[in-house]
Amino acid sequence: MPRLIVTPRNGETVTVNAEAGRSVMESIRNAGIEELLALCGGACACATCHVYVAPEWVDRLPPRSQAESDLLEGVTHFTDASRLSCQLKVSPALDGLKVTIAPEEQ
Ligand code: FES
Repeated sequence: MPRLIVTPRNGETVTVNAEAGRSVMESIRNAGIEELLALCGGACACATCHVYVAPEWVDRLPPRSQAESDLLEGVTHFTDASRLSCQLKVSPALDGLKVTIAPEEQ
């Protein structure tokens, strides 16, 4: 089972067991980290599942879709490491993926 290394806003990093085929967002929420609101349920329409990917992972992930880029570029805390966690599908290749939950939008 792939594991995700997740740092919530309190800075206390946890390891989350993720199920292949589900999204990173679902895996984080299923682990009880509810500050990742994911208000649109994974429809790439809200950006409340915004995370930062660790630098060593940025180029190892599939590129953002146009819809993901459009949404992310509109958020306050956008960086080159920004991803919508609902758009990242868990697979064995993502074992050890490190993400930090982005600050809440104002
Ligand atoms: S859950 Fe809404 S964009 Fe990801």
